[in-house]
Amino acid sequence: MTTTLPDRDRDHDHDREPAEDGPPAASDPIARDTLPAPRGASRRLLGSLLRPHRGKVALGAFLLLTQQAAVQAGPLLVAYAIDSGVPAVRDDDNGPLIAVAVAYVVCALGAGLLRYTFIQAAARINQGMLLDLRGRIHRHAQALSLDFHDRYTSGRLISRATSDVQSLRELLNEGLQELLVILVSVVYIGALLCYLDPGLGGAALLSFVPLYLLVRGYRRRSAERFGKRSTAIASVIVQFAETLNGIRPVKAFRREEANDARFDRLNRHHGRVNADTVLEMGRFIVLSRLVAAVAVAAIVLWGAQRVRSGDLELGALAAGALYVRRLYDPMDRFAMILNNYQSAVASLEKIAGLLAQRPDVPEPERPVQLPPRAAGRPGREVVFEDVRFAYRTGGEVLPRFSLTLPAGRTAALVGATGAGKSTLAKLLARFYDPTEGRVLLDGTDLRDLSTAELRRGVVMVTQEAFLFSGTVAENIAIGKPDATREEVERAAKAIGAHDFIASLPEGYDTDVRKRGGRISAGQRQLVAFARVLLADPAVVILDEATSSLDIPGEKAVQDAMETVLRGRTAVVIAHRLSTVEIADRVLVMESGRIVEDGTPADLIAGTGRFSDLHRAWRESLARHGSPPPGLDGRAGRGRGC
Ligand SMILES: Nc1ncnc2c1ncn2[C@@H]1O[C@H](COP(=O)(O)OP(=O)(O)O)[C@@H](O)[C@H]1O
Ligand SMILES: [Mg+2]
Repeated sequence: MTTTLPDRDRDHDHDREPAEDGPPAASDPIARDTLPAPRGASRRLLGSLLRPHRGKVALGAFLLLTQQAAVQAGPLLVAYAIDSGVPAVRDDDNGPLIAVAVAYVVCALGAGLLRYTFIQAAARINQGMLLDLRGRIHRHAQALSLDFHDRYTSGRLISRATSDVQSLRELLNEGLQELLVILVSVVYIGALLCYLDPGLGGAALLSFVPLYLLVRGYRRRSAERFGKRSTAIASVIVQFAETLNGIRPVKAFRREEANDARFDRLNRHHGRVNADTVLEMGRFIVLSRLVAAVAVAAIVLWGAQRVRSGDLELGALAAGALYVRRLYDPMDRFAMILNNYQSAVASLEKIAGLLAQRPDVPEPERPVQLPPRAAGRPGREVVFEDVRFAYRTGGEVLPRFSLTLPAGRTAALVGATGAGKSTLAKLLARFYDPTEGRVLLDGTDLRDLSTAELRRGVVMVTQEAFLFSGTVAENIAIGKPDATREEVERAAKAIGAHDFIASLPEGYDTDVRKRGGRISAGQRQLVAFARVLLADPAVVILDEATSSLDIPGEKAVQDAMETVLRGRTAVVIAHRLSTVEIADRVLVMESGRIVEDGTPADLIAGTGRFSDLHRAWRESLARHGSPPPGLDGRAGRGRGC
């Protein structure tokens, strides 16, 4: 056996399951669970987790070595009692036997005390390591770019931070301590047996050969099964998370049954894989007990022969038998520990793979500060310079283009779904970096700005208007964490959100996730706008920020939007004509290209795509009164999920 972390085979075939009774086949992204990590990454991760606890680790090692010395003195004392104590009693000398008894009790007490201290030290180390690891996973998952999150589902991230950390915790809290105890005791027992009688020691060591082969075979088979098991449990978690993340579309499309069937399949697969690991363990336990029993019987028989021939003391044989028993006793537990160990190694590898991922949108090594915004000059200039862009998972979305957005102006971006509007916006917010070319903010490449500076410079608001758990005031203050309550209220008032916030059960202190704190889509959008106003970025991007709203809500949001845009460079991805009308300039996109570019009035007067759209919109308004279709031909509202 070995305590080092094996570099398990690099090909992660075990992640691919038969489509029939397993999780979905490799084509399904859920099935691909293990990210490639550089060789030895798990070991380095473990090392880096342990490093801060070096002192405690050394103390733990010392406690363990001393404790095991006290424990393993037992049989030796028995041998001494039989071979020297008992004969002395026959000669009316109780001294040696009493001395042995006292030593026995002292050793037992000392061992108990040392074990207790050891467990405490180990628990502290484990707590520290797991705390650190969970923190790292969370920090790292947040730091990774959207490009990563496009491909790696949140369910898988959650299973890294929960079930994988849990399996490591099990190993650290239970398995590893016992494994170390077993290792130290085997060394001590081997040495003591050899000291008692080299023949006995040799025989005991020899019996380790079949045991070693057994352990080796078991480890190989169970490694494979544990890889499968941890992938299987991850698939279950992923499916669960997906159902819940998409609970609205699930309801809307009555997907419950299909989801249930899928979950059931994954769940059953997990059960089967789990049963496999248990069976494998059962086989190991039975076989190792058999080896142990045969070894003890053989050693006692052989020892008895030698006692008869006067070659071995009776006490030494008794101690030898006790030691050999002790040698094999932990083998049952050993299988369990090995299981823990396997699953922890599989988990650690997955975590290491995740932590080895580098963000595709890295922080610059030498971040550049933007010069302060000149007073009286609103916003900053944005330049797309020979930019091309392709998502990793698809073909080119934006062919080479250049575009200058002067400071303080509002550009409306219109075009059919899939034209690339959001993609362009995401490049400007630096959610992604261009494949080629540069995006410049007042002449500085976005890639050279620190994350903090970038977030101050550019803010993007999307249709979802996500609210974080916390109060309404906290949600507004996300744009400026050190804002005072007055500033928060001023922003809310400017946006026109104050009245509805004041009418909530606890006003600005209403928890948005609690009952009564339920906020409509339009109100959420107002909170999001107040957030932007408080953050006061130079550039603001609104990606269909109003398209999920109903008409009465829209007027308020429209006013709020104009407040937000004032004094900034703005890109508004517009779904409605009313939104476009407030822009200085309209960009019409088609298949990643800007096909029209001009003032709204010019484009309407022309004969291009925008003038067609505009006419259709007007006609529809005249026919139906309301609501108009969106500029990309979709219904104007109620797109629901
Ligand atoms: N995360 C992504 N990964 C791969 N392809 C994407 C991703 N997001 C969008 N796309 C693709 O890029 C194209 C442009 O999408 P998008 O910019 O969202 O269009 P729009 O906002 O104009 O509707 C589409 O073909 C879409 O399928
Ligand atoms: Mg879009």
